[in-house]
Amino acid sequence: MKKICQLSEIEDGQAHAYPHPEKENRSVIVARMGNEAFAFLNMCPHMGVELQFQENKFMSFDGSQIQCAMHGALFDIPSGYCNWGPCSGQSLIPISIIVEGDMVYFNAETANPL
Ligand code: FES
Repeated sequence: MKKICQLSEIEDGQAHAYPHPEKENRSVIVARMGNEAFAFLNMCPHMGVELQFQENKFMSFDGSQIQCAMHGALFDIPSGYCNWGPCSGQSLIPISIIVEGDMVYFNAETANPL
């Protein structure tokens, strides 16, 4: 299995970006919720850009969702579903990960469910 990161690198309720283990020039967002983590391809379904405001700044003002810096679309965690913004009804592409203790491993990029 390919390691993405250690869970302890990410503050609870925050998300970080890491290089995609299989795709050059792409990154993976890993969002930590307690001892769980959820991952998505770092690509807004609206215009295909990366989502961060600044390095590793992905979360909405209230800290509950991932927000795209470009036009403000909001994405639910863990589903990745966009519930507000220009790509409302679409979803981030989920990345299957395995969390073992403090280690987060890449499993597979899964097809966009919508
Ligand atoms: S590019 Fe993300 S909301 Fe427009």
